[in-house]
Amino acid sequence: MRVLVTGAAGFIGAALARRLCARGDEVLGIDSLNDYYQVSLKEDRVRNVEQAGEGRFHFRQADFADATALNETLGDEAFDAIVHLGAQAGVRYSLENPRAYVASNLMGHVNLLEIARHRGGLPMVYASSSSVYGGNDKLPFAVEDRVDHPVSLYAATKRADELISETYAHLYRIPLTGLRFFTAYGPWGRPDMAMWLFTDAILDGRPIKVFNNGEMWRDFTFIDDIVNGVVACIDNPPKDDDAPKAGGSVKPHALYNIGNNRSEKLTRVIELIEQACEREAEIEMLPMQPGDVEKTYADVDAIRDDLGYAPSVSIDEGVPRFVEWFRDYHAR
Ligand SMILES: NC(=O)c1ccc[n+]([C@@H]2O[C@H](COP(=O)([O-])OP(=O)(O)OC[C@H]3O[C@@H](n4cnc5c(N)ncnc54)[C@H](O)[C@@H]3O)[C@@H](O)[C@H]2O)c1
Repeated sequence: MRVLVTGAAGFIGAALARRLCARGDEVLGIDSLNDYYQVSLKEDRVRNVEQAGEGRFHFRQADFADATALNETLGDEAFDAIVHLGAQAGVRYSLENPRAYVASNLMGHVNLLEIARHRGGLPMVYASSSSVYGGNDKLPFAVEDRVDHPVSLYAATKRADELISETYAHLYRIPLTGLRFFTAYGPWGRPDMAMWLFTDAILDGRPIKVFNNGEMWRDFTFIDDIVNGVVACIDNPPKDDDAPKAGGSVKPHALYNIGNNRSEKLTRVIELIEQACEREAEIEMLPMQPGDVEKTYADVDAIRDDLGYAPSVSIDEGVPRFVEWFRDYHAR
């Protein structure tokens, strides 16, 4: 199988590309290598996948928000599937730089749907986010729940991607799968996310910032489980059979949560990081940040029932694995 992976220098994209190459697929990865966080980490991920991929991974730098540049980059390449993971991620940065989200997450999403449409109606798996659930207080969050009240522009762009995708599934019968990821973490993770920031500060002896006075819960999903879910979706595009799909569409468009199905208190995760770092954290308690939510918790029944997804890595196992990678990568 030949797969186009966007955001291939990103955390989830690189991990997915590595897995696809390992099972014998060919991957063309594209990424703009933007400097939202350190470019060197993105380049290191690409190098790591190139080495592991034994010639099956190819990388091209491109900005998919620019339709002309994207088409030129892809030339007359043919694919069997698209996995669109590239995006402007991060809730907090969407308050600072909203236009980056509109360009990458709205324009970029339409550009990838157009590629899917004009290159033979290619099945596409794309990244949505748990943030679409906003401040919903019905837990766990299920794909049937209403998601009309986002609390950040980031969340609104991800919800918009789901709605735009629904129209493409309806009009052009393209098989589409939207994945609402819940706080991914693990080796090669993201420097703007809590687990990285905490580990970095604790090892450095700097205080860590904990928002909402520590009253925060997240469904933390280890990267291997995230990748298992994505691969299951690539291998099982929704059928165009009028039957209702997860998330309620009767078009070939499914929506799934990919989480660990457990909501962990942030302070418990800090304890695990402290143990793995063999150092105590100095905690600075702060109020809730605008755009953030107190709790996330994924109901994964839909993807378990349809595709056999079963998260297998607990935070007790996953946090030390992340910290071990972090210390090794930074030689600390
Ligand atoms: N990591 C999580 O916990 C999480 C949770 C929910 C949703 N998501 C979503 O999953 C996807 C992957 O997330 P990630 O954690 O790997 O993030 P990431 O930031 O590490 O990866 C995204 C990649 O997309 C690239 N990119 C951004 N705009 C681009 C553009 N216009 N053209 C080309 N490349 C562009 C970036 O350079 C980056 O390498 C994103 O869509 C994100 O919104 C992630």
